[in-house]
Amino acid sequence: MTSSPDKKQLEEYFSTPRARELLEQLSVAPGDLPPHVAIIMDGNGRWAKRQGKPRLFGHKAGVVAVREAIGACVELGIDYLTIYSFSSENWSRPRDEVSGIMSLFVEVLAKEVRELNEQNVRVRIIGDLDAVPAKTRRAFEDCCASTAANTGLTLVVALNYGGRADILQAVARCVRDSAAGELDLGLGAAGAAGAGAGTGAGTGTGTIDQDAFAARLSTAGIPDPDLLIRTSGEQRLSNFLLWEAAYAELYFTDELWPDFTRESLLQAFCDYQGRSRRYGGV
Ligand code: IPE
Ligand code: IPE
Ligand code: MG
Repeated sequence: MTSSPDKKQLEEYFSTPRARELLEQLSVAPGDLPPHVAIIMDGNGRWAKRQGKPRLFGHKAGVVAVREAIGACVELGIDYLTIYSFSSENWSRPRDEVSGIMSLFVEVLAKEVRELNEQNVRVRIIGDLDAVPAKTRRAFEDCCASTAANTGLTLVVALNYGGRADILQAVARCVRDSAAGELDLGLGAAGAAGAGAGTGAGTGTGTIDQDAFAARLSTAGIPDPDLLIRTSGEQRLSNFLLWEAAYAELYFTDELWPDFTRESLLQAFCDYQGRSRRYGGV
């Protein structure tokens, strides 16, 4: 974020007394808000169960909360919002829940793409799209293509995503690139022919280092998350952004995802601004 969002506009969007109260406490000066917010949107099933409804009802209600989070991030000038929408382990759920979620994606994307463009949001996917049903995959590909030129918030959707699987495919890419002479794995004479210092960025010829490795993850080019939120009271990562979240500030709330509002996000940002990030220093 390069400039502070307009105060009048913020007050219009955050109009409830609670939101105004939180907005008062929040610094929106450049650099004070987390540039990259990641959310583990958990608790849809429990939310539905509480109302005696099937789990899919909770996932549908969760869409409203996604819209809230996107809207609030747009208003506040956040650069990246990454949402965990389906994990590589979620295939183990009942078949009708999985197919219901996959159809819901198609339905929601078709409905929301116009609004995303109006909000200047660019959509990007991380995870293994190849294993996703064709209709759902196409809906996401279309949405990414349609929003590709937007310059505001980047909405990163983690779909069939698993941190370990992503790290593993990055390792495989390193090995392949080494065999192609494009990366020196630092194995000495037994290693590949690639020479020179770490590239620092991109996948050009260079020596393996953290930047060269990160450039082979599906999050390549996306800065690490600054704030990682998980709803529903669970306090675990569930295989989300394992490499990238090394120094993320973690924020847990008991709210179930469908109950998460723009006020909830402001609350998380206020909490974040009270943290002291040391990165191992003093
Ligand atoms: C998160 O809510 C959404 C997905 C994982 C797709 P859950 O469906 O995990 O809800 P709970 O945790 O069972 O309540
Ligand atoms: C994490 O939630 C995945 C998503 C939110 C998409 P889960 O509900 O799958 O995680 P666990 O099973 O409680 O760890
Ligand atoms: Mg869950």
